[in-house]
Amino acid sequence: MTTDNRLKAFLTECQERAESALDQRLPSANKLPQRLHEAMRYAVLGGGKRMRPTLAYATGRALGLDLGRLDGPACALEFIHVYSLIHDDLPAMDDDDLRRGKPTCHKAFDEATAILAGDGLQALAFHVLAHDSAMAVSAEQRIAMIDTLAVASGVAGMVGGQAIDLAAVGQSLTLPELENMHIHKTGALIRASVKLAALAQSGIEADTLQRLDHYAKCIGLSFQIQDDILDEESDTATLGKTQGKDKDHNKPTYPALLGLAGAKQKAREMHETAVAALQPLGAAADMLQAISLYIIERRH
Ligand code: IPE
Ligand code: IPE
Ligand code: MG
Ligand code: MG
Ligand code: MG
Repeated sequence: MTTDNRLKAFLTECQERAESALDQRLPSANKLPQRLHEAMRYAVLGGGKRMRPTLAYATGRALGLDLGRLDGPACALEFIHVYSLIHDDLPAMDDDDLRRGKPTCHKAFDEATAILAGDGLQALAFHVLAHDSAMAVSAEQRIAMIDTLAVASGVAGMVGGQAIDLAAVGQSLTLPELENMHIHKTGALIRASVKLAALAQSGIEADTLQRLDHYAKCIGLSFQIQDDILDEESDTATLGKTQGKDKDHNKPTYPALLGLAGAKQKAREMHETAVAALQPLGAAADMLQAISLYIIERRH
């Protein structure tokens, strides 16, 4: 099998694995308050690339971990991610009507329900990390995982990055400022996806952890650069979200600052640095390498 085919098979395996793990951990739509649970299930299930769960599983594969131990962390990461998407789409933020090829949560339900669905998913993420017994980790490891996700999703990570994003509308940021925004709003959770899986290996070597973290930091940035590129050069049907919103909203992006060619060049550099960091991990890191390339070549 070519690397490309192995990646396709691995992505499908991880997506299916994540879909079923998420379904099991979400509250049932028959349970009260039904409308809230329906909104949470609507936003989480049946869509999305599941990039953060996939990164956790690919890291587990690189470390020889049983993937069942990572279902809990994978779900926690996706719950935080979907909560961030629901809130990102609200009228007070990016005001988007389309997400993952269907109406955004506040359009399909209402704004208050969407806000609460996001809040509920955030709390559920930490509940899952605190309780999932299949993770088979020590109490110390579990706390380190909970703390890693809390820092990555809070003011020092995603939420802080979203605040920088909103404050930057209509401003012209310098390249370091733009990089800082991207590293926070998107990079932090991507980085946590690799770190959570790495922390599941007890006594992981400091050098391995540091290499994985460096890889994750680079792909976190290239992921958002590609998101900016696609907003400019893809189309709404392929993206499953409205194309061209960044320009409409006067958002500072990599293509706006460097041009499309410059943004692509920067993403490629990040990919190369990411893959170089993995080198000593050898063939076990094959899917992590392939995902880095996928991130900068993806079309949605
Ligand atoms: C979109 O994330 C928002 C960003 C953080 C750039 P994804 O591109 O991972 O969205 P889904 O999960 O596949 O829908
Ligand atoms: C969102 O960035 C990052 C989040 C934390 C959700 P964008 O606003 O560019 O994400 P899309 O393009 O709406 O998916
Ligand atoms: Mg946004
Ligand atoms: Mg948005
Ligand atoms: Mg975007």
